[in-house]
Amino acid sequence: AKGLAGRDLCSITDLSVPEMAAIMELAHAVKTQPEDFRHALDAKQMVMFFEKASLRTRLTFETAMNTVGGNAVFVDQTSSPLGERESIPDVARNLERWMNVIVLRTYSHDTVTEMAENAKIPVINALSDIEHPCQAIADFMTLEERFGSVMGLKFTYVGDGNNVCHSLMLTAALLGAHCTVATPKNFGPKLDIIHKTIEIAENTGGSLTLTHDPIKAATGADAIYTDVCTSMGQEHEAARRAPIFKPFQVNEELMALAQPSAAFMHCLPAHRGAEVTDAVLDGPQSVVFDQAENRLHAQKAIILMLLGGAKRIPSHRNR
Ligand code: CP
Ligand code: NVA
Repeated sequence: AKGLAGRDLCSITDLSVPEMAAIMELAHAVKTQPEDFRHALDAKQMVMFFEKASLRTRLTFETAMNTVGGNAVFVDQTSSPLGERESIPDVARNLERWMNVIVLRTYSHDTVTEMAENAKIPVINALSDIEHPCQAIADFMTLEERFGSVMGLKFTYVGDGNNVCHSLMLTAALLGAHCTVATPKNFGPKLDIIHKTIEIAENTGGSLTLTHDPIKAATGADAIYTDVCTSMGQEHEAARRAPIFKPFQVNEELMALAQPSAAFMHCLPAHRGAEVTDAVLDGPQSVVFDQAENRLHAQKAIILMLLGGAKRIPSHRNR
């Protein structure tokens, strides 16, 4: 997948089946042999604009960049959205003169695509209102570690049909997994993401099942994933949403319907006691901190691919 150099990652739909496979393979390689990539992006510069809070995404991108020889500059945009002081095309035309990659966490997905259309350098979506592609890549890397191939795996998402859900659906389809999404009525995934997921799954042997029944979705699953029911920016809806999402809580009763070997997954941060109980989040089936760890390795693979630094320098020549 040499063709990924110079490209953007705004959405999982930016990736073909072989490109997703190549990122996964590289993610496992950088995790096992990090020293081989110690100088892969020497002196390359990343700029990160975040309109929303972050623990994992910020720290894993900065650490990823620093440990492959590059550097990251973080710009806090939590008090003023991108495009307010200066238009996004103008920002893009400045950034491309100094930087090698732009990482954005935004309210509006259009901010990400507008930057990508106007900047000559790669743009990476670090969470928008529509997608969280880096999360989903790390999550399926975690599943590959646990199950080997995820082809044919029964992956279930329970909760809000949100940004994380969208990227997981698309990733599952690209990798040939069977994805079931259980949401309350009126909280399902976006129609165009559903259509795209089905279109991809038709070519990979994967599938998509949508339901409003969490019990049906959990039964026999290999992995059960949930996320908060009120995402960043939706805080004003929290009180209205809480009772609607109550039947979708992942608790020990729901986990008991899945395979005994099933993994419990969550992108974090969790609202403990809301979408998931402490017993499940802290229980033996939970892989949430493996997911968090793999954000680092998956994002290293992503930046290596997009910045054309996937060349490996064996560590014995690297000291
Ligand atoms: N999962 C995730 O993206 O975490 P942060 O919001 O802390 O970056
Ligand atoms: N869906 C959540 C994910 C946070 C990592 C949000 O957008 O706030």
